[in-house]
Amino acid sequence: MILELDQVTVTFSTGPPLRRRALHAMRDVSLHVGEGETLGLVGESGSGKTTTGRVALGLRRPTSGTVSFEGRPFGRRRRELAGRMQAVLQHPHWSLNPRMRVGRSVAEPLVVLGRAERGEVREMLEQVGLEAELADRYPHELSGGQRQRVSIARALITRPGFIVFDEAVSALDVSVQVQILNLIKDLQADFGFSALFISHDLGAVRYVADRIAVMRGGEVVETADTETFYTSPAHDYSKQLLRAL
Ligand SMILES: Nc1ncnc2c1ncn2[C@@H]1O[C@H](COP(=O)(O)OP(=O)(O)OP(=O)(O)O)[C@@H](O)[C@H]1O
Ligand SMILES: [Mg+2]
Repeated sequence: MILELDQVTVTFSTGPPLRRRALHAMRDVSLHVGEGETLGLVGESGSGKTTTGRVALGLRRPTSGTVSFEGRPFGRRRRELAGRMQAVLQHPHWSLNPRMRVGRSVAEPLVVLGRAERGEVREMLEQVGLEAELADRYPHELSGGQRQRVSIARALITRPGFIVFDEAVSALDVSVQVQILNLIKDLQADFGFSALFISHDLGAVRYVADRIAVMRGGEVVETADTETFYTSPAHDYSKQLLRAL
């Protein structure tokens, strides 16, 4: 088991001053991601998917409940785990600095860990299907699909055991989406990382996930093997989501 969430609740306090109220972005969420496995996380906007991804990466501390990585609770281990977990987000400009050459952005996670870059940037760009020469370009000189490949190269450079993809293909054209989804599957076969693949697009999730978890209003309402889920969903809400597909 690479990642385990046990009864995780995240409560935000929202609303104007004097009229603050508690909002449960996650409520008693228990989930796990096995070694080499991809867990798809689906649900409508605001259901708590991104919050779950952030908690899984240790970027947000749960209000209650525990998160374990490789069998040990997070606690104060977040720093120690830097580089072991990475994220690929919807908009590459959230992870790629527009004023930085692509090569430097890809190398950055290594630099943060205090490691020297010894040809890994070139190697990673080629792994994600880009020419190594692209390292000298700026993000705005690339297509959306190329930029997302760069984000993936950047995530992979520290050889993480676990990657969160949060709406990683949602902003791309359908044909490019398929290319990136195929790339993710190929890379997973080569590198063996485990993944949490978050998307509101049930078609995309089916393509990459081994299992699916469905969130609604901060709660996980169903978890099932991908095939079982798409052929015979158990929960009414899942059926509703699939009908909309
Ligand atoms: N920092 C925050 N402060 C207050 N409320 C927040 C914060 N982050 C998220 N929320 C709220 O928590 C709930 C879950 O948000 P979250 O971003 O996890 O949903 P999501 O499933 O990723 O949605 P989307 O599909 O739109 O990305 C929402 O109601 C959101 O408004
Ligand atoms: Mg989100």
